[in-house]
Amino acid sequence: MSKGPDPSRLYFRQLLCGRDLATSDPTAAQMVNFVYLIGDRERGECLAVDPAWDVDGLLAIAQADGMRITGALATHYHPDHVGGEIFGIQIEGLPRLLERQPVKVHAHRAEVTGIRQVTGLSAGDFVVHDGSDVVRAGDIPIELVHTPGHTPGSQCFLVGDRLVAGDTLFVQGCGRVDLPGGDPDEMYRTLTQRLARLPETTVLYPGHDYGPTETSTLGQERRENAYLRLRSLEDWRALMGA
Ligand SMILES: [Fe+2]
Repeated sequence: MSKGPDPSRLYFRQLLCGRDLATSDPTAAQMVNFVYLIGDRERGECLAVDPAWDVDGLLAIAQADGMRITGALATHYHPDHVGGEIFGIQIEGLPRLLERQPVKVHAHRAEVTGIRQVTGLSAGDFVVHDGSDVVRAGDIPIELVHTPGHTPGSQCFLVGDRLVAGDTLFVQGCGRVDLPGGDPDEMYRTLTQRLARLPETTVLYPGHDYGPTETSTLGQERRENAYLRLRSLEDWRALMGA
């Protein structure tokens, strides 16, 4: 594992919807998504992770920090992460970002169709990726980690020792596997194998504020999160009530 980006250059912000963004939107306050900005302070460039809510507010935050949003990273296709309609509510998301700032959306190959369906974006709006690809925010490398289970093309983003995990892993929880595209067996492999290579010190930055704290470490989660303490597929199926 590399030592990671120069800490003095790394720009990293965790923004809670309903508190830091979309402050007057009751749906945002209820869904408690996290949006992230990851970038290179020296170059003044950053990527937005799951910029679904209050795009104008997000652009203003980046600008106030002297940063320009030069691309978007999508963890998965659900409208509370990329925009689109959910429970009869329209979330502006990626279409609004691309209207304000014509950037590309980095998504996993298996997720592009789903994101296009919920957002109405076209094929040309995407840079299509496989797992292990590296995307750069300025000179800061961000490794894409394919973590299917919540959806087929769910991906996490690894920046040095930080893991931006979308709806794959929460503080003391994990993403649902009973929604369209969810796959319990793939989620089991993601939790017990794909994320197992990451060291204990890896800092978890989840896609929602569902836990007692806003971040955690994989070490702590391996001790306390029931979904990372699985010994067998049978354990997992029992936990999921399947
Ligand atoms: Fe989701």
